[in-house]
Amino acid sequence: MSETVKQSQSFAQPEANTAQTELGSYRHFMQKEIFEQPRAIADSLKGIETVTPAWFGERAAAIFSKIDSVLILACGTSYHAGQAARHWIESLVRLPCHVEIANEYRFRDGVPNPNALVIVISQSGETADTLAALTQAKKLGHTYTLSICNVAASSMMRQTELRYLTRAGAEIGIASTKVFTTQLVALFLLTLALAKERGRLTAEEETFWLRALRRLPSAMQATLELEPQIIAWAKTFAHKAHALFLGRGLNFPIAQEGALKLKETSYIHAEAFPVGELRHGPMALIDDGMPVVATMPNSALFEKTKTVLREARMRGAELFVVADFDTPFTDDDGFHVLRVPEQESLLSPILHAAPLQLLAYHTAVLRGTDVDKPRSLTKSVMEE
Ligand code: G6P
Repeated sequence: MSETVKQSQSFAQPEANTAQTELGSYRHFMQKEIFEQPRAIADSLKGIETVTPAWFGERAAAIFSKIDSVLILACGTSYHAGQAARHWIESLVRLPCHVEIANEYRFRDGVPNPNALVIVISQSGETADTLAALTQAKKLGHTYTLSICNVAASSMMRQTELRYLTRAGAEIGIASTKVFTTQLVALFLLTLALAKERGRLTAEEETFWLRALRRLPSAMQATLELEPQIIAWAKTFAHKAHALFLGRGLNFPIAQEGALKLKETSYIHAEAFPVGELRHGPMALIDDGMPVVATMPNSALFEKTKTVLREARMRGAELFVVADFDTPFTDDDGFHVLRVPEQESLLSPILHAAPLQLLAYHTAVLRGTDVDKPRSLTKSVMEE
């Protein structure tokens, strides 16, 4: 068997084993699924020795070399994963990448580009809006399509030429957690495959990124061990009516996902903004005691971000920061800081997602909401 064929995915859904559908020692499925992330990420990387487009289907290599851009369509949490992928694809592959909410794209009189790769991302593969957006893209003349789903036998997986099955396993909690991080891993693998096929990944870089990915499961495990610190944060959040989430670049979609998790599970009004936007309106929302969560890697923009956060603090905000292991804070910054373990900067946002999931979970538990089945929400929105 050739290396390429050996590494291509089996599209059969692995059986949902009893361990996945039973709570075991956990109180809720959401908590259990958050803690399954190291395993889910490890499963996503199982058997990978080299980067190959064949992970995405037989014709992937031919299609990846032809396209001139990427268009990602998705809803909810899957849309946030797509937004993160945009940064990876643009910086490592140098391909323009647009990301659009599927329920907007489907009704928009958009201008098609038949040379774009259209990617639909979905946990269920049955979301009506995302399926309709895919139909609309095809109607407009798009032919290169790829689905990234967590259900092998889903409608979406049948309707695209290329496909990739995320390895989260059955997800029972309505608020998506482990599917989100496996979508991110899938999209990073896609970025590497696109880069390799298009001559933008040297052998050294390939080895470097595969090594970095292999460190992710244990780094995620170490991140989850920070739970006691998050429980302490949740005690403050449980009494709040509003919260703001901030992030920049690759970390902005992580902030959006954090805000979505908090509102879905605890019913606290939470919004996310890119850090730089705070001064363009949302700063007016900040008064005494407003909790502001920032996801802050150790990037070149750190000082600029800190200046904005200090301004928010002067106006009364209480700052909760998820930082990289080496983000340079000093004690007199006056923020609550939680540091994720060492990881390559392009991958550290995957780790930043976990404390925000735990924050939503523990805040919801303290508020006594139905964590696994939040009011008015369903796992998959299949109706129009
Ligand atoms: C619903 C779920 C969300 C999910 C969204 C998209 O709103 O409650 O958790 O992110 O649908 O679902 P999909 O299955 O397409 O990822």
